[in-house]
Amino acid sequence: MAVEQQEVQVSEAQIAVHWREEEYYYPPAKFIGQANASDPAIRERFREQNFPECFKEYADLLTWDKYWHTTLDTSNPPFWKWFVGGRLNACYNCVDRHLATDRNKPALIWVPEPEAAATEVITYQELYWRINEFAALLRDFCELKTGDRVTFHLPMVPDLPVSMLACARLGVIHSEVFGGFSGAACGERIVDSQSRILVTMDGYYRNGELIDHKSKADEALAVAKKQGFEIDKVLVWRRQPGQYASKSPMVEGRDFFVDEVITDYRRRVVEPVSMPAEAPLFLMYTSGTTGRPKGCQHSTGGYLSYVAGTSKYYQDIHPDDTYWCFADIGWITGHSYIVYGPLALGTTSVMYEGVPTYPDPGRPWRIAERLGATTFHTAPTTIRMLRKLGPDEPAKYGYHFKHMTTVGEPIEPEVWRWYHKVVGKGEAVIVDTWWQTENGGFLGSTLPAIDPMKPGSCGPGVVGIYPVIYDEKGEVVEAGSGRAGNICIRNPWPGIFQTIWGQPERFVDTYYKKYCRNPESKDWHDWPYFANDGAVLAADGYFRIVGRVDDVVNVAGHRLGTKELESAAITVEEVAEAAAVPVVDELRGRVVEMYVALKPGYVASKEIEAKVAKGIETQIGKIARPKNVWIVADMPKTRSGKIMRRVIAGISNFTDPGDITTLANPEIVASIKEQVQTEKRARGDVPRELTAQEAEEIKAFGKNE
Ligand code: WTA
Repeated sequence: MAVEQQEVQVSEAQIAVHWREEEYYYPPAKFIGQANASDPAIRERFREQNFPECFKEYADLLTWDKYWHTTLDTSNPPFWKWFVGGRLNACYNCVDRHLATDRNKPALIWVPEPEAAATEVITYQELYWRINEFAALLRDFCELKTGDRVTFHLPMVPDLPVSMLACARLGVIHSEVFGGFSGAACGERIVDSQSRILVTMDGYYRNGELIDHKSKADEALAVAKKQGFEIDKVLVWRRQPGQYASKSPMVEGRDFFVDEVITDYRRRVVEPVSMPAEAPLFLMYTSGTTGRPKGCQHSTGGYLSYVAGTSKYYQDIHPDDTYWCFADIGWITGHSYIVYGPLALGTTSVMYEGVPTYPDPGRPWRIAERLGATTFHTAPTTIRMLRKLGPDEPAKYGYHFKHMTTVGEPIEPEVWRWYHKVVGKGEAVIVDTWWQTENGGFLGSTLPAIDPMKPGSCGPGVVGIYPVIYDEKGEVVEAGSGRAGNICIRNPWPGIFQTIWGQPERFVDTYYKKYCRNPESKDWHDWPYFANDGAVLAADGYFRIVGRVDDVVNVAGHRLGTKELESAAITVEEVAEAAAVPVVDELRGRVVEMYVALKPGYVASKEIEAKVAKGIETQIGKIARPKNVWIVADMPKTRSGKIMRRVIAGISNFTDPGDITTLANPEIVASIKEQVQTEKRARGDVPRELTAQEAEEIKAFGKNE
């Protein structure tokens, strides 16, 4: 009992965080003059007294087949329903409705990674045809119906938005698995969503190499089969129609080249299916605290309204922009702010296939110059990398951005200032948008023409979102107190996910249980949404996001669950126990280090280290590859047998591991420290001194277990 008591004390989220206040930057007059939202009255329209009807303004950006009768239905909390009674089709809204006036406007501009290859411009009219033909194929060749699920494992090629919108046209639920994820990860998501069709690609370019991608489909199917699930068909788009870039054999009767089958569906028009606003549009899997990934289920009407509205006011998208979001469509950012939001508003959206620094760190700026891109949207990891490898590159190119975004991780004020001054040339406004896969669209950001920017802070809640910070007891942490706590959203909003696919209890437990005031209540005020992020609220009403308060490590803007990493490590035969911890990294924000203890009778070796790293890569993907694998004699544990991750996280980060007197085996700490830190010093792999905020994060790691 005494031990448990101690643990609880460590788990207080009220950590004092000290940093200096940053200065404000103001939006350029030229930007304000053209902005979609330049009148502060917008805040009035979206203030709490006008909730939920304020969101009509977003929904009215869409074309509805049938108008809704109830804006927000709260009868079954926290399973909120938006725009009930309304009907619409997401593909119609993103494509068909623009044809009358804009059929020859580029909808997508795709830049292949090889620089000598021609850029592909796809007009709205052309996009319409590609979607219709593929929708006909999905419906008639694959026999897919409304409500069925389809898994995609596609890289950054136009076939991905075509496939998404073809599903949306039919009311089929798509589930895109990030192309960089392993076949095994894809297989698990196939089983979880019960998808009978897998859509993949033969290969794609990454860092100058044509990567064999189809082989991952074989692995995915093998993993699914092991769990007793079989796929009907694998559709393979070819990077170059007619040529096959993979060594994986095509299985007769199961695998089909899209470019061959689709010849039977040329010029076929498929009527968009009018869907209820509440019908699921897609699933997007993300990591959580248990090994099983969470399929976040997003709705058609609420989601599309929310991404259209936030694209208009926060991305400031105009129909004549050349809007470039440099994210992967395999993540939520790409779904919302490359495909659905921008296309719903009828603008031109740019897609780039490859890595930012290929063949050199001037590449993004050449693309921007060539296309006349007006906006740029990326993650701090990319900004840090471009800054490190090509700090003077942007000045060499004659592009001009009016608007830039940073998303996915906290950005260091120093990096923000480089982004502003060098990438934005002092001409662009910046929004630091805070949100999550679960949220559909932005939660925290400045209004670009109205609010001043503050490096490192996302700003206030976006319009119609009323955030609050609670401490562990549910008391409000006041603005300007300097204390961090758990950021929550007090109200529902149209973009919030509907549930975790197949795991409704987990949905309630993870996001609503912690601060629910009364589980019987049907009043939304009693159901704050717990974001699982720590944050601090400054006196000016700006939030600074500190990072995850659960066991998720944010590596280069990608969420990795420690449990997922650990179960992958344990698949290695010699491994008895594994613990994953975050290490602060100059470029990628955080990287993962893996600690493992071996089963009796095995001796530590470089081979086992390599097997663990490889195991994680195969189970999850290259992005999850740990920076180091440490084979230790034993893990530091509490007397109840729990691994104390904060202790080893402290060792890896060269910070104070905190109180160890309550451990069952405190003596192990010194020997692990000696082993790991000596080796890290020898490798020149000592992290820079952590900021107070980072040190607190490391100290709190694993506290919720
Ligand atoms: C983090 C990405 C600081 C946060 C859209 C969140 C951020 C997780 C920011 C979600 C930001 C996202 N500043 N941290 N602007 N945006 N995060 O689901 O910890 O891939 O919980 O969604 O990234 O990551 P996800």
